[in-house]
Amino acid sequence: MADQATLKLEGKEFNLPVIIGTEDEKAIDINNLRDQTGYVTLDSGYKNTGATQSAITFLDGELGILRYRGYSIEDLAEKATFLEVAYLLIYGELPNQPELAKFEYDIKHRTMVNEDMRKIYDGFPVNAHPMGVMAALFSALTAFYPESLDPNRSPEKVNLTILRSMAKLPTLAAWAYKNSQGHPLNYPKNGLDYCSNFLHMMFALPAEEYKVDPVVADALNKLLILHADHEQNCSTSTVRLVGSSKASLYSAVSAGICALWGPLHGGANQEVIEMLEKIHADGGNVQKWIEKAKDKNDNFRLMGFGHRVYKNFDPRAKIIKKACDDVLKKLGINDPTLEIAQKLEEAALTDPYFIERKLYPNVDFYSGIIYRAIGIPTNMFTVMFAMGRLPGWIAQWKESRENAEPIGRPRQIYTGPKLRPFKSMNQR
Ligand code: ACO
Repeated sequence: MADQATLKLEGKEFNLPVIIGTEDEKAIDINNLRDQTGYVTLDSGYKNTGATQSAITFLDGELGILRYRGYSIEDLAEKATFLEVAYLLIYGELPNQPELAKFEYDIKHRTMVNEDMRKIYDGFPVNAHPMGVMAALFSALTAFYPESLDPNRSPEKVNLTILRSMAKLPTLAAWAYKNSQGHPLNYPKNGLDYCSNFLHMMFALPAEEYKVDPVVADALNKLLILHADHEQNCSTSTVRLVGSSKASLYSAVSAGICALWGPLHGGANQEVIEMLEKIHADGGNVQKWIEKAKDKNDNFRLMGFGHRVYKNFDPRAKIIKKACDDVLKKLGINDPTLEIAQKLEEAALTDPYFIERKLYPNVDFYSGIIYRAIGIPTNMFTVMFAMGRLPGWIAQWKESRENAEPIGRPRQIYTGPKLRPFKSMNQR
């Protein structure tokens, strides 16, 4: 492998170092490019730009590989709990029994949210999208925990903010839902594990004893693990970028929630189920919608298909597809949108348009069907994604701060007018 690259510009040659990752990923180091040459690089959508060196998640889009800290996603989804995976991502190693017990305890005992935050919910209209509510409330945590405002203060304070984030997001999420229903809010139950406690806060009704169905809790545990990290995607890059200005972790996560919300990113899971319902209501003619997705004059896209990095298959989609089948069978649910999803996938995978562009189902294609089967309302799907992604955001924020990464500040190529004289109103 080359140990440096040579760049020829205006008759001069410049040597640029090459950096090789532990999985042999190759990069040309352009850290000093502008100082040396006066040039910057242009890379819209950062398709060829590595923003950082990270030891958290490895993915190979060609081979369909995803690993957290070296552990395969298949193993983790099958054998781990979400909090074990969260610990692994945030602290770098799998916890032993006492470490996990302490982590669980520390989170459980911080699930309560300051009562004054309840008043903020009252200010939202009932039909407010829960992602907007979540972003606002997560950022509002800075007001209640001002020590988070100085992320460099002490490792103990930083860790407290991390634990509070993990503990409070499910409470805030379930309350956003309850508020949208006009229902009284459910307080956390510390006797329950992370997933069961969230389900309790979502679904328990005052007059009834709510029993968590283990099939539902297991499905949720798996989905959260599959979403837990995905290296430098749009929302994670946002979290790192906001964190690079030394803003609080709560603010950085709030920005991550906003970035995740968009339909081209985490918001796709809501869009997928709405698309499947639309196709079902339209008579289920899958081919008609495949043709629409291919038509460049039609702005319809097959939601849940395609990925910036995966060009063969998304390993998370493979696991979710199987889980989807299992969960629906175990719960005895016959969901017609599953059949439509399967037909769409079959049709797309044999269609030259999708084959040539390497478009495969992504993590969002089947996740919505499981979420719906376990009772999560459609507008909460992306909130579920955020809950899963939280440890990844935290780990990436922590790594970036520990490595003292400089403030993120891209360059640009200016294409506007050159200097021109100002004309007062009567001269225009
Ligand atoms: N349906 C139809 N055509 C598509 C789709 C799709 N879902 N996705 C990509 N294409 C086509 C594009 O029109 C383009 O065609 P062209 O070369 O003829 O112009 C080509 O495939 C490449 O697509 P880009 O948009 O350039 O690819 P990019 O890497 O920028 O975008 C993205 C990736 C945003 C995921 C895209 O595939 C998409 O919009 N998918 C649907 C939304 C979705 O499911 N998002 C969730 C992604 S996973 C996640 O974030 C958790």
